[in-house]
Amino acid sequence: MEIYLDSANLEEIKEAYSWGVISGVTTNPSLISQENRDFKEIVLNICKIVEGFISVEVISLSTREMIKEAEELASWSSKIVVKVPIIPSALKAIKILNKQGIKTNATLIFSANQAILAARAGANFVSPFLGRIDDISWDGIPLIKDMASILGYYKLPTQVIAASIRHPLHVIEAAKAGANIATIPFRVLNQMIKHPLTEIGINKFLEDWKKSSHS
Ligand code: E4P
Repeated sequence: MEIYLDSANLEEIKEAYSWGVISGVTTNPSLISQENRDFKEIVLNICKIVEGFISVEVISLSTREMIKEAEELASWSSKIVVKVPIIPSALKAIKILNKQGIKTNATLIFSANQAILAARAGANFVSPFLGRIDDISWDGIPLIKDMASILGYYKLPTQVIAASIRHPLHVIEAAKAGANIATIPFRVLNQMIKHPLTEIGINKFLEDWKKSSHS
């Protein structure tokens, strides 16, 4: 499973990318709004830092306006994947953008049927939102399993991005369920590397080293 960073914060993106584990970035209007910078400046800077796909979301809801926005975003960099919410007007947009060679990520996916429709329209990625499903006391993992097996069975090229990841266990469960990619907030990426026994082990090695004779 590939790892993307779910962030629009340039410092976080630089740090996470330097770890060598990030192969893409996803953003959304809420993440962009948390940064005190111009939208285009943020996106162009992410493109400079990261080698890989960068998902950037449209805010229009009509096919015509979505396509206009998507064409503008795609003209900024070949790394840009246009995120569209899964509604009928977006399916039409995905089909047209696919023919134009513009990559799309169908977002706000909460059912396997939505993923099937996005895949049939030609979306390159579908983003099921795990955390937001948990928020309504439901389990998003079987959904990822269903999507991965359906898209795999019919050999559809659409990749499943497990999104709205809230904790490290989500990452393991998404990987076991067959997600192609997990898009992870920086906070969770940091939690993934931490283990108390690793810290205890490092401290013990350093203390023992101090006691030993060495030149
Ligand atoms: C990424 O594609 C999504 O926009 C993001 O993971 C949503 O996360 P949230 O539910 O924590 O806002």
